[in-house]
Order: sequence, then C-alpha cells, then structure tokens
Amino acid sequence: MFDTMTMTKAVGAVCGSLLVLMLAGWAADGLYTVGSTGHGAEGELTQAYTIDTGAGEAPAEGDGAAAETVDVAALMASADAAAGEKVFKKCGSCHKMDGSNAVGPHLNGVVGRNHASVEGFAYSDAMAAHSSEPWTPEALFAFLENPKSAMPGTKMSFAGLPKPEDRANVIAYLAANP
Ligand code: HEC
Repeated sequence: MFDTMTMTKAVGAVCGSLLVLMLAGWAADGLYTVGSTGHGAEGELTQAYTIDTGAGEAPAEGDGAAAETVDVAALMASADAAAGEKVFKKCGSCHKMDGSNAVGPHLNGVVGRNHASVEGFAYSDAMAAHSSEPWTPEALFAFLENPKSAMPGTKMSFAGLPKPEDRANVIAYLAANP
C-alpha cells in the first residue's frame, strides 16, 4: 500500500509543516521579544498599568456608590407602583400589607417608619439596632438589594432584588400603601 515514495512525501509534508510552524513561532517570538525588551520588565509593567487603569475606570463609574445615589433619586422619580405590586409578590409569602404580621412584620406604612418599630414583632438584634433610623427610600433601596449583606444578622431570608428598577418600583408600591 505505502510505497517508499508515499512515505517520503508524507514525512516530507510533516517536516515541512513543522518547519513552517517553527519559523512562524520563531518570527513571532522575535517580534514579541523586541517589543517587550524595549525597556525590560519596567516597560511591560508601565503598559500593564495603562491598560488596567483604563479598564478599572469604566466599571468604577458604572457601579460605584456615587452612581447608586443618583440612581435612587432618579429611579424613584420614574418608579411605577403598579409594577412594584407585581415585584411585591416575592415579598408576599412573608409580608402582609394589612397591618398584620406574618413571617415578617407588616409593610404597609413602612416607608418613613423607623426600623424594627412594629409592636409585637420579634425582630433580630441586627434590625433592632437600627430602631432609631427611619426607612427612607434610600435605606430600603440599599437593604433590598441583598438584605443579608446590607444588614448582617437580619432574620429576613431573602436573596434580594438585584435590579435597581425592581427595588425602586417595590418601594413606590410600599410608599403608596401607608
Ligand atoms: C422569607 C421571608 C421574607 C421575604 C420573602 C421577604 N422578607 Fe422582608 N423581612 C422578613 C423578616 C423575617 C424580617 C425581619 C428581619 C429582622 O428582624 O432582622 C423582614 C424585614 C423587612 C423589613 C424591615 C421592616 C421593619 O419593620 O423594620 C423590610 C422593609 C422588608 N422586610 C421588606 C421586604 C421586601 C420589600 C421584600 C420583597 C422584595 C421582602 N421583605 C421579602 C422576611 C422576609
């Protein structure tokens, strides 16, 4: 089947490709080395920094604290209580809006009332520690993103509402139900 000529061609082809690969690799290596040895490790570090700073700035602007402060006011201004009522379905298994407590304290009138101020509800120490602070839209906005990380020790076992719009809408719904 394989005569000597076929074998020779096959081996030749393989060697040929290897040679091309080697040469290409060597050429690329050469280019690369020339670039990075311009100023040795220092030059490389400086460049890495330039890239890092550029990449670091964009997310910092996007999800920084300043951006979120702006979000609350802006989002609350355009929040939709009807949409918030739908979001509230996620809360409804634990919270009622009729003045009675369930797994969690009733939430009608929560906007503006102090933390942990519902009579007869056994709050966690973490929540009770804030009892002199009112539930402002901003406070709710921060708490509802991820209750357990916003208030370590809270009894509220809820993953949170990662979407700022969902939080703003549910706060608008709560605010509309005193
Ligand atoms: C799995 C049950 C559960 C779910 C779901 C839940 N909560 Fe809670 N929530 C609680 C409990 C329990 C507390 C009391 C927390 C404590 O004492 O630390 C609480 C406390 C609160 C408080 C503080 C009330 C006060 O009187 O100080 C607010 C505000 C609140 N929840 C809003 C919400 C909203 C809005 C949602 C839906 C997006 C929600 N919760 C979903 C159980 C829940």
